[in-house]
Amino acid sequence: MIYNGDTPVSRAQSFHDVVRSRHSVRSFLPTPVPPSVIRSVVQDAQHAPSNCNTQPWQVHIASGATRDALSKAILAADEAGHISPDFSFSLDDFHGVYGERSRAQGAAYYQAIGIAREARDERRTATLRNLNFFDAPHVALMFMPVVGDCVRVAGDIGMYGQTFLLSLTAHGLGGIAQTMLGFYAETIRAVLGVDPSMKMLFGMSFGYPDTNSAANHYRIGKASIEESVTLYD
Ligand SMILES: Cc1cc2nc3c(=O)[nH]c(=O)nc-3n(C[C@H](O)[C@H](O)[C@H](O)COP(=O)(O)O)c2cc1C
Repeated sequence: MIYNGDTPVSRAQSFHDVVRSRHSVRSFLPTPVPPSVIRSVVQDAQHAPSNCNTQPWQVHIASGATRDALSKAILAADEAGHISPDFSFSLDDFHGVYGERSRAQGAAYYQAIGIAREARDERRTATLRNLNFFDAPHVALMFMPVVGDCVRVAGDIGMYGQTFLLSLTAHGLGGIAQTMLGFYAETIRAVLGVDPSMKMLFGMSFGYPDTNSAANHYRIGKASIEESVTLYD
């Protein structure tokens, strides 16, 4: 048992609450997160499991002037058509049910924020909010070394990312993983002075969620466990 105030709460219930209340946050308040809280989150995330305990994540967290310079640089790179992903990504690669889920997610999000399917310019503007970190005061950039075909290391970065996001939720914060930030890997390395040998998988904007924003009232459903899990006796 753990105690929440004077109420005993089972660890499973507490974990359940954190996992179920986490969701991708796409609108943040400008209020900065105290450095001590950011340290607490990264200390939690450091406990993520990894292949052979290699802990291959190299995390760069930008706040303040660095955050602003980074956003400016990647918006400029986008404007100039300078896309530099370290790893490929195309929505067209999602076949069958994965394509359906991806399309359903996009449709639900745009509906929630009141953008019609055919409103291409408005959609583009909404997508570009990724590059201003959805107004978050902080962004974590997830770098990794090249090891073999990178799949195992990428799995480790995913473990870290979810631990980080769950810790944000447990601290009353919110965040969102963003593959889109990885499209500007070269630009981000240049601004932060990261060695070119380190590859960027995704970024995570984070801060205090703007609870008044329609972007944060939207929740995407999850498939039933029968679609994902096979149980054997
Ligand atoms: C690795 C990863 C990359 C993602 N990249 C983006 C992104 O670039 N932009 C975005 O708006 N959402 C991004 N998402 C958020 C997903 O759309 C979101 O996790 C999914 O729709 C499920 O919703 P939930 O996080 O609220 O459960 C990403 C999520 C993950 C795990």
